[in-house]
Amino acid sequence: MPILTLEGAGEYQVPQGKRLVLALVEEAGVDQLHACGGNARCTTCRVEFVAGEPSRMTVAERDVLAARGLSDVRLSCQITCDHDMTVRIISRLAGSGRNDAGHEPAKEITPPPVWIEK
Ligand code: FES
Repeated sequence: MPILTLEGAGEYQVPQGKRLVLALVEEAGVDQLHACGGNARCTTCRVEFVAGEPSRMTVAERDVLAARGLSDVRLSCQITCDHDMTVRIISRLAGSGRNDAGHEPAKEITPPPVWIEK
């Protein structure tokens, strides 16, 4: 099983292929924001990669990051845990002023992913 490491927080075993946003919430217990429910619209599921950044990304992730002018973050709702990775948590419910973290993301990446090399 892949190891998900949160910088300064710990290591967690994650089922192969699990959505990163769900691994952050369910395995690591992070109050990670995912306001749009994992649909590559809000960018609140953003994380910074310390190591193991995936070389592929979905077209939906590429497009929303470009539209928002974001270049140093990745969207955890558009990434699967298929190898070891280390991330920095930068978008939590705590301190956000929001009432909740967002709708629960589906088990599979949504919208249906079209993969490209980053
Ligand atoms: S972009 Fe909204 S949860 Fe990922």
